[in-house]
Amino acid sequence: MHLEFIYSGWRPCCACSISLSVSPSMPALFYRWVFVWEKGYQETDSVVSSVTTKAKGVAVTNTSKLGYRIWDVADYVIPAQEENSIFIMTNMIVTLNQTQSTCPEIPDKTTICHSDSNCSANSADTHSNGVKTGKCVPFNETVKTCEVAAWCPVENDAVVPKPAFLKAAENFTLLVKNNIWYPKFNFSKRNILPNITTTYLKSCIYDARMDPFCPIFRLGKIVENAGHSFQDMAIEGGIMGIQVNWDCNLDRAASLCLPRYSFRRLDTRDLDHNVSPGYNFRFAKYFRDHTGNEQRTLIKAYGIRFDIIVFGKAGKFDIIPTMINIGSGLALLGVATVLCDVIVLYCMKKRYYYREKKYKYVEDYEQGLAGEMDQ
Ligand SMILES: *[C@@H]1O[C@H](CO)[C@@H](O)[C@H](O)[C@H]1NC(C)=O
Repeated sequence: MHLEFIYSGWRPCCACSISLSVSPSMPALFYRWVFVWEKGYQETDSVVSSVTTKAKGVAVTNTSKLGYRIWDVADYVIPAQEENSIFIMTNMIVTLNQTQSTCPEIPDKTTICHSDSNCSANSADTHSNGVKTGKCVPFNETVKTCEVAAWCPVENDAVVPKPAFLKAAENFTLLVKNNIWYPKFNFSKRNILPNITTTYLKSCIYDARMDPFCPIFRLGKIVENAGHSFQDMAIEGGIMGIQVNWDCNLDRAASLCLPRYSFRRLDTRDLDHNVSPGYNFRFAKYFRDHTGNEQRTLIKAYGIRFDIIVFGKAGKFDIIPTMINIGSGLALLGVATVLCDVIVLYCMKKRYYYREKKYKYVEDYEQGLAGEMDQ
């Protein structure tokens, strides 16, 4: 007996409800998704970019320790230039005029002492400010601590200034200059768009709705857009991401290839697990006093680092991905037919009925021929 293939494909599928609703529309949907939404007819390339930044703004502080003081860019941007990021100091603990000498440690569990026997000479642990001399000396009227050889007086960073020392940094601005290049299409562009004039650039401030292409950002607004409070973040510091997205369809006009900015806070901050929050580091400025002794001013700087993250993908029509996607789409249509047949012929309750319809049972040719001859 031979099995003759009468019809393959959709008809048995139409007979069964599951296959009817799912199978024929699936490849079509997949096709649409690949071709229309995911632009399966395009060759893609990812972005190559360079970024420079410039901060602007002036702050005034007036404290008993430092007096009346103006803070400009050279004071609060540390270091002067960085790659794809900029650190703005917003808070600090300043320890003035330290010299190499001996002085009492800051009181805590390990440094408070009652007599010299509590302080072993020449020892230092990772958290101490210097090397113990072995003496127990008064820190103030009530507390005595071990004496250390260190940069004295030692820094006391137990209390972080609140509100932040440079709270006015909220109104500082940041100019982000970003050049991008899609090497495969030799397409380049910058985020200072061709229609932006010098006068406009002097006055504009980025706003997601009013001014989405102004490359100048107010620091307060960056943090606000990410859903955080600038004044809170300024106290302990943190890291903000400025994301620049250059998703471009180069089948359309180059002027429609535009940057989209978004902001997010990159240092995760758990309110219930507030251990070692924020971002800070120390640096010192060294100088010699009039007698020639070396002195330094130690600054523990808290601040916000703004990381500029550029990403994007450009697409342009190309015959090769088009052909590949058409080919794989056609193959998929074939797979759907086979899959349908398998379900209908082997899995469904009425499979015998469908099998009967799909295949025609014919007699062996020779036998049939013999039978006919007999008649
Ligand atoms: C920022 O500028 C606005 C408007 O000029 C002003 O009202 C606000 O007090 C400033 N913020 C700070 C922290 O100085």
